[in-house]
Amino acid sequence: MSMNSNIVEIVKKAFVSQLRKNYEVRDDESKKIFLSKIVEKYPINGATMIEEINRLNPKLVVDLGCGLNQYKGLIKNLIGVDVVGCREDIVADITDLKEHFKDHTVDVVLALGSINFGEDDLIELQLKELKRLLKPGGVAYFRANQNDHDKDHKGDLRYYDWSKDLVEHWATRLGFEIIGEVILAQGSARIRDRMDSNFVGQRRSNIRLFWKWRAL
Ligand SMILES: C[S@@+](CC[C@H](N)C(=O)[O-])C[C@H]1O[C@@H](n2cnc3c(N)ncnc32)[C@H](O)[C@@H]1O
Repeated sequence: MSMNSNIVEIVKKAFVSQLRKNYEVRDDESKKIFLSKIVEKYPINGATMIEEINRLNPKLVVDLGCGLNQYKGLIKNLIGVDVVGCREDIVADITDLKEHFKDHTVDVVLALGSINFGEDDLIELQLKELKRLLKPGGVAYFRANQNDHDKDHKGDLRYYDWSKDLVEHWATRLGFEIIGEVILAQGSARIRDRMDSNFVGQRRSNIRLFWKWRAL
């Protein structure tokens, strides 16, 4: 097994217990509330982002590492991809989606907290795959942890050490234009408070980086 596939297994294990198990125990009403709270957790990724994407009238939006696929039904023509095996449309590793999507066929990609694990080599593979998916001029929305990875260990899970410099570095290297500002912001505490004590991010800072890239 390659080092990268090992990381994907570690990620899968962590998020099956964090997301899927936390969701599946709920009744239908509580599931709906839970999903809407995730949409509201980071206001930048809430109603404003949803409206902005829908205004583009996208033919295809792919949510990479969609978790519980909370944008399904809110964003037009969205397909969620993940390995947690709960609400995603496609169960697959986002590192290689050639079996599922042709080159340059996607209008908008979401990578919210998902291209955020392992080291440079895995991040590069995943960003190149995201670029392969996007049409020229297509837009990608990102959320990632910022520079707090000393605290980001739980078992073997390893967060990538994203920073504003790295957002610029990868954009230049892989052919993206940064749209607007790279933003630092804090999520609401609500979801964190509801997670059990094994929640993988329990001791992490709640500060996140948000940015948008346009594929050149
Ligand atoms: C922090 S959660 C974020 C979930 C969702 N995007 C959100 O914003 O609520 C990270 C998600 O990325 C998924 N993920 C990470 N690496 C992945 C990979 N290589 N292939 C598929 N999914 C992956 C995890 O399984 C997890 O569901």
